[in-house]
Amino acid sequence: MKKIMVVAAMAWSTFLFGAVDKSAGEAIFNDRGCVMCHQRDMETIGPSVRTIGIRYNANENGLVAYLKGQGQPIVYPERAGVMQPQLMKIGNLYEDEYRSLARFIIQSYMRVDF
Ligand code: HEC
Repeated sequence: MKKIMVVAAMAWSTFLFGAVDKSAGEAIFNDRGCVMCHQRDMETIGPSVRTIGIRYNANENGLVAYLKGQGQPIVYPERAGVMQPQLMKIGNLYEDEYRSLARFIIQSYMRVDF
């Protein structure tokens, strides 16, 4: 019983504080080489993280689906051929990692520290 309450409390705090850790998403983004083509605020080979974030604003589930390889590109579909193979680099993430990654991307455009 006690254990169930602890789990319930943890779920509740996740709900309250959005404990899906977007800094974990940022780490994945850096570690998997996404930064090679995606600068935060500047269009380079790929769209900036900010551009992607704006496009997927209020559509976190859509972005998660895209990152899992289950969605259609909506930012620059005409260049999707460059991006598509990159998804293999994140083909083995856990569900909450996809979510952290999506949250990091979406929240990037709201950040004021650039
Ligand atoms: C070789 C360059 C390159 C690398 C590396 C790269 N991308 Fe991209 N990415 C692109 C290009 C070009 C586009 C534009 C095509 C598009 O919008 O589908 C893009 C688009 C995207 C989009 C928008 C998709 C949409 O809906 O159109 C997301 C999200 C994304 N990249 C995430 C990532 C992540 C996460 C990684 C790291 C695993 C990554 N990219 C690595 C080149 C790259």
